[in-house]
Amino acid sequence: MLFKDLPREALMRPLSRNEVVGMLVRLTIFGAATYYSIKWVVEAMDPTFKQKNQAKKRAEQLMKRIGVEGVKLTEYEMNIASHLVDPQTMKVSWRDIAGLDEVINELQDTVILPFQKRHLLAGSKLFQPPKGVLLFGPPGCGKTMIAKATAKASGCKFINLQASTLTDMWYGESQKLTAAVFSLAVKIQPCIIFIDEIESFLRNRSSLDHEATAMMKAQFMSLWDGLDTSSTTQVMVMGATNRPQDVDPAILRRMPTTFHVGLPVRHIHQTAVPLSLQNTRQRQDILRLILAGENLSNAINLKEIAEKTEGYSGSDLRELCRDAAMYRVRDYVRKEQMRQIAQQLQDCQEEEKPVDEERLRPVTQLDLLFGLDKMKESKRATASMLPSVAEVPLD
Ligand SMILES: Nc1ncnc2c1ncn2[C@@H]1O[C@H](COP(=O)(O)OP(=O)(O)O)[C@@H](O)[C@H]1O
Ligand SMILES: [Mg+2]
Repeated sequence: MLFKDLPREALMRPLSRNEVVGMLVRLTIFGAATYYSIKWVVEAMDPTFKQKNQAKKRAEQLMKRIGVEGVKLTEYEMNIASHLVDPQTMKVSWRDIAGLDEVINELQDTVILPFQKRHLLAGSKLFQPPKGVLLFGPPGCGKTMIAKATAKASGCKFINLQASTLTDMWYGESQKLTAAVFSLAVKIQPCIIFIDEIESFLRNRSSLDHEATAMMKAQFMSLWDGLDTSSTTQVMVMGATNRPQDVDPAILRRMPTTFHVGLPVRHIHQTAVPLSLQNTRQRQDILRLILAGENLSNAINLKEIAEKTEGYSGSDLRELCRDAAMYRVRDYVRKEQMRQIAQQLQDCQEEEKPVDEERLRPVTQLDLLFGLDKMKESKRATASMLPSVAEVPLD
């Protein structure tokens, strides 16, 4: 039936109540169906949807665990919040760091005290934690370790920020995420924003920078400056780098408080103790700390190893000890194999197994010396490659 064939009065007649209700119900169902299908399509098209959902869940759990409640976060802040670190789960403490007493003491005074005793310092504009702190020094000397221990000791929230978190694939997202870092930090303050290997993130700006990266850096700095507006804001940016010369000078200016985390050198202000002896003692401390709790032979002489490891970083020493500890495992496996072969040869007479066969022997001085030899060899090999690496222009 065509429209013009309808009786005229059927069109003119006002709609009954039931018809209006029916129409409204149909409209609502149709609207809802459209809304959900469009939402479904958009979600299916967004490749980061699953990732975002996971980040949100993780963030919610983390926030609960570290006791942040009643704070409303945006989607971007949630994303950043998933990088929060729970100080309780942090394993590193000051006691695990050997030979950096001076740096640790200074850090405690300038960084941790203002956070811990903020109730005493309220109202004073001068007694504030610094807005930026930089840890610098050669690789493997404990910068990351110190940052972790700081998080634990200060008891404030700690955002472990990675450059990859901010460089979202969608244009424009990076800026929103950068803004979220600071807005989240202010919401959950006191808070430390930690950026490891800061030179890779906030590197010297150059004309070759991608436009989005350049904008992100500029925005990061202006947000950072924005923290200064209120004297009660307790947010600090902490960076670590082994190439301070590659960090943007504008960033360095914002981090006036610097700490040099160098190769084992103990600054004892006693002229009677020669420097080389101090270094040796410091390496000995590190070795003792690394080997604490290990089954060591009585004849172990850490002083000898410390004397032979001039210029070694804490991470080198750990690698050396790890190697040494592995030798006994290898010995154990060899012994086991020999025993099996011997048993097969003897075939029948089952000898009773000595009890300590099942245990690893203690680490001996010889193991450590072997580890040292291996380390020296690999150092020599990498050193011969170094000049060619240094020749490559970095920018
Ligand atoms: N001073 C130190 N005391 C104890 N262990 C150390 C020390 N310095 C380095 N180490 C060992 O070396 C590893 C690497 O240190 P890390 O903090 O990651 O170095 P960086 O960040 O400076 O490159 C640590 O996990 C630790 O086992
Ligand atoms: Mg590191």
